[in-house]
Amino acid sequence: MSVNLQKLRVEIKGLIFRNPTILASGILSNTAGLIKRMVFEGGAGGVTFKTITLNPRKGYDNPVIAVVKAGLINSMGLPNPGLDEALKEIIEAKRILPPDTPLIVSFASSDPTEAQYIAGKLEEAKADAIEFNLSCPHAKKLGLVLSQDMKLVELLIESIKSTTKIPLFVKLGLQDNIVDLAKRIENKGADVIVAINTIRAMVIDVYARRPVLKNIYGGLSGPAIHPIAVRVVYDLYKNITIPIIGVGGVEDWHDALEFILAGAKAIEIGTAVYTKGIEVFKEICRGLLTYIESEGFNSISDLVGLAHKI
Ligand code: DHB
Repeated sequence: MSVNLQKLRVEIKGLIFRNPTILASGILSNTAGLIKRMVFEGGAGGVTFKTITLNPRKGYDNPVIAVVKAGLINSMGLPNPGLDEALKEIIEAKRILPPDTPLIVSFASSDPTEAQYIAGKLEEAKADAIEFNLSCPHAKKLGLVLSQDMKLVELLIESIKSTTKIPLFVKLGLQDNIVDLAKRIENKGADVIVAINTIRAMVIDVYARRPVLKNIYGGLSGPAIHPIAVRVVYDLYKNITIPIIGVGGVEDWHDALEFILAGAKAIEIGTAVYTKGIEVFKEICRGLLTYIESEGFNSISDLVGLAHKI
């Protein structure tokens, strides 16, 4: 089955996704070659290029990943070659991708001028959208730590929005004030909220009697976080008007559909690409299509937020 079917097409802030399954940031998504595989072999309807920073980052020492019962815990330390090197891959990825498969580029910064600069360069490189990573659960002065400072978050969003025209997605992590934060981000002009990132967690080696990960803490992803992420998307949908993309533990069409019924227009898939293989995108699309047809709907968009109409 081709996944290029009208009933699965979604529009988000003017971008057309041939289907609602998007490769999440960080999962085999930092070269044009990998991105090509995810789209042409895997069937992804959009891709998110792994988080980049202005300067190169080596990341943490090994071990950076641990397998747990219901998912993975990773703490890579945002390794990336820096903006200039990443731009070459981004330009190449854009050259290859079909127009109905948007390339979103994730980036992190805690400085408004720097964030604006990175965003401008990504726009020049023809990224279709940018995803501001406000949610890495363990990076120092970035991600979740930064998101505690609402004033700074507002400044960052304002600064990025003041010059960049492509849609700004903001990826949030689990935090008590997530609805408040999302509202403030919406008010500053962000275009899409992506929720949620991995959840701060740890795993202990009982024989070594020490944490497994070099960085001690990592981010938990996979099935363990899915019901939490669905709850967050449901709460966000009630409180904000900009589109939401759901992410967290999607392994099959049923998980994807839960997000959509909770209010997400599309979903991102990360851990399942490892655990189930890249065919996971196609499999989910097949399941969604069968559901749409057997339940008598016209398109995936008709299902967005339906769980609220009780
Ligand atoms: C990393 C970044 C993330 O945003 C995340 O959720 C988990 C890990 C990292 O590069 O370490």
